[in-house]
Amino acid sequence: MTAEPPKEKRILYGRRRGKALRKGQRLLVEQDLPRLAIPLDGGPIDLGALFSSTIKEYWLEIGFGGGEHLAWQAENHPDVGIIGCEPFLNGVAMLLGKLKEAGTTNVRLHNEAAELLIEELPAASLTRAFLLFPDPWPKSAHAKRRFVSHANISGLARILKKGGEFRIATDHADYGAWILWHMLQSKEFVWLAESPDDWRVRETDWPPTRYERKAVEKGLHPVYYRFRRK
Ligand SMILES: C[S@@+](CC[C@H](N)C(=O)[O-])C[C@H]1O[C@@H](n2cnc3c(N)ncnc32)[C@H](O)[C@@H]1O
Repeated sequence: MTAEPPKEKRILYGRRRGKALRKGQRLLVEQDLPRLAIPLDGGPIDLGALFSSTIKEYWLEIGFGGGEHLAWQAENHPDVGIIGCEPFLNGVAMLLGKLKEAGTTNVRLHNEAAELLIEELPAASLTRAFLLFPDPWPKSAHAKRRFVSHANISGLARILKKGGEFRIATDHADYGAWILWHMLQSKEFVWLAESPDDWRVRETDWPPTRYERKAVEKGLHPVYYRFRRK
C-alpha cells in the first residue's frame, strides 16, 4: 500500500523554493527561522508563550510574499503579535532581512501552508487577518486551489474574535467576484463597504505589497475588501 503524502504536501499548490538564497539570506534562514517558527504539535497553540508579555493582540498574514506589508504592520504596531505564514522560503528570507534591519521582535512565522496553522490556532484568538493577493489560479480547472473557500472562511471565522477584521485584496477580476460570492454567503462575516471607494481605495494603514505594485504597473485595478467578524 502506498503511504499518504503528509497533509502539508497535499494542501500546498504553489512553490516552496525559487532561486538559490544568497549567503546572507541563508544565514538568516538558518539562524532566525528556527527561533521564530511556531511549533505545531496538534494542540491549540499557546500564543502567550510565543510572544512577549507586552503583546496585547494577535494578527495573522497569510501568504505574505516578500513581507513588505507584514514588516510595516509589525513595525507600526509593536504591541501586536503578528503571525506570518508563507511556504515560499525565498519570501521568508526577504522578510527576515526586513525584520533584522528594523530590529522588529513581534513576529512569529509558519513556513508552510496556512491551513494547518489555522487548525491549531485557538478559537477567537486573533483580532485581524490579512490575505493579500492570493494566487488567483485563473483556469477554471484550478479554481478549487484558491485559498478562499467555504472551509477556509469557516476556519478564519473560528479563530477571529467577534468584531475582528479580515482584509483581502486581489487584482484579478474573477477572483474578486469569487471572494465576494464566498464571503457574502458566510453568516459569520459582514462586508464593511458603504461606497465604492471603500473597496477601490486602500486604507492608510494598509501599505502596498510587491505583487500589488507590479499589478498596478501593468494597469490593473486591485480591490481591497474588509470584512468584520460578526
Ligand atoms: C501572488 S503571491 C502574493 C504575495 C504577497 N501577499 C504580495 O501581495 O506581494 C501569493 C503568495 O501566497 C503564498 N501561498 C500560496 N498558498 C498558500 C497557502 N496555502 N498558505 C499560505 N500562503 C500561501 C504563495 O507562496 C505566495 O507567496
